[in-house]
Amino acid sequence: MTNDGKYIVYHGLLCPNETHSPESFKYAEEMKVNDDDIFVVTYPKSGTTWMQEILPLILNGGELTPVQTIPNWDRVPWLEETRAALVLDRQTSPRAMVSHLPYHLMPCSFFSSKAKVIYVTRNPKDVMVSSFHFHKMASFLDDPGTFDEFLDKFLSGQVLFGKWTDHVKSWHNSDLGDRILYISYEEMVKDLRGVLERFSCFLGRELSEEALDCVARHCCFSNMKTNAMSNYSLVPQEIMDSSKSPFLRKGIAGDWKNHFSPEQDAKFSAVLKEQTKGLDLKFCWDED
Ligand code: A3P
Repeated sequence: MTNDGKYIVYHGLLCPNETHSPESFKYAEEMKVNDDDIFVVTYPKSGTTWMQEILPLILNGGELTPVQTIPNWDRVPWLEETRAALVLDRQTSPRAMVSHLPYHLMPCSFFSSKAKVIYVTRNPKDVMVSSFHFHKMASFLDDPGTFDEFLDKFLSGQVLFGKWTDHVKSWHNSDLGDRILYISYEEMVKDLRGVLERFSCFLGRELSEEALDCVARHCCFSNMKTNAMSNYSLVPQEIMDSSKSPFLRKGIAGDWKNHFSPEQDAKFSAVLKEQTKGLDLKFCWDED
């Protein structure tokens, strides 16, 4: 593990020093995973914060108090971040957490457990756009440079948690059977209510129609944007400056079309095709 300015490099992956430490990774490696633990795994900027809102609501029958009173990073902490050691052991079961770790870096005890995983993917072009704006507002990350420069960094994996394709491949090749549910950000944008039903079924939680309606209403982008427990307004402006770009920025699918030139689009698609050659990976945005 090396320390490189704003980043700590963990198994070749860049992670911000602001939220990660050698101790936090050790905690993640050694944690005892319980059979009823629930993990949401994402590549950064794929809808993690959204899931930190949804999960407690599904697990609590639509009860709003947790999401209105506890900041998202303590409500559904990141497994590999420093807050995990402080809050996870105090959580009542089932514990819910998020992670950006690739499959092979999950805690040892995860593999022999029955813990469930929801893996959320998002169109990598939109992930890159979201990440570009995030780098502008977060002082604990390097300046992204020009959009063209950031595109090259993204494609070569010189960004948080490495290459998008490596992350997605690792989780799609996992052998978790019915312990894992794959969902896309795009499906959530298109039909949140339907996706909530799939989540509650996967997690074995029966919610009434009214409760599901309430969760869907609460978790829509415009509502979440005003929730101080979820929109990062509790973080001092010198760390996250929402005047440069709000954390909950646009919340749509396909914003890449407003950012990519035809040349950038062609280059991005070609590199991704090469990186996923020979793999049977089909995504809903591939037809775009
Ligand atoms: P944009 O920057 O494209 O708006 P993460 O939480 O993994 O960092 O992902 C952040 C992205 O998820 C941001 O994308 C953010 O706006 C989006 N997001 C968060 N909550 C959302 C919601 N309720 N509906 C749609 N998008 C949401």
